[in-house]
Amino acid sequence: MPPAHKLRPYQPQDLGEMQRLYFQAIRLVCVRNYTPEQVEAWAPEKPDLERWRQKLAGEEVVIAELAGEIVGFCSWAATGFLDFLYVHHAHQRQGIASALYRAAESALRAKGLKRLHTEASLTAQPFFARQGFRIVKHQFVQIRGVELPNAVMEKLLV
Ligand SMILES: CC(C)(COP(=O)(O)OP(=O)(O)OC[C@H]1O[C@@H](n2cnc3c(N)ncnc32)[C@H](O)[C@@H]1OP(=O)(O)O)[C@@H](O)C(=O)NCCC(=O)NCCS
Repeated sequence: MPPAHKLRPYQPQDLGEMQRLYFQAIRLVCVRNYTPEQVEAWAPEKPDLERWRQKLAGEEVVIAELAGEIVGFCSWAATGFLDFLYVHHAHQRQGIASALYRAAESALRAKGLKRLHTEASLTAQPFFARQGFRIVKHQFVQIRGVELPNAVMEKLLV
């Protein structure tokens, strides 16, 4: 059994560590499903700080921490849109995203939401399928002038 992580709310001083985790997760994990050009557009060397701050200010954000290190984070909007979901490249397949997802789903259920949705990367689609999401449509999104495939997925809460 891997050691247990704990969940806690996001604090503004987490931002730098979250950006490093995001960069590495995309460059080292998503690179299995995307081209080098696509991962460079998705996770540029220099993060767009303003965009991060804006997104996080409007969303609920939960951090997974293990031995004082951030090993994952998840964010969602009050509309039921799951936005960020990233797990440290060295801590994949240890149930961290599942724990983050459970926190998101229970917070959104508590608000009375009946439908959760996301735009899942190719890398994350098996994870969301496992959580009971279905693909609504496959699409391409443009990031910094590069097209990346992903899928709109949804889960109806009963
Ligand atoms: C997708 C991601 C968040 C999953 O995180 P994780 O902590 O490894 O996921 P979990 O350990 O909770 O996985 C739970 C289950 O989901 C499924 N799953 C997760 N990753 C999978 C993969 N790569 N392939 C197939 N199934 C997978 C499995 O059923 C898994 O259970 P198992 O390990 O017992 O087989 C992680 O791979 C990640 O950070 N990917 C890169 C960033 C990304 O694409 N984020 C989403 C942006 S939309």
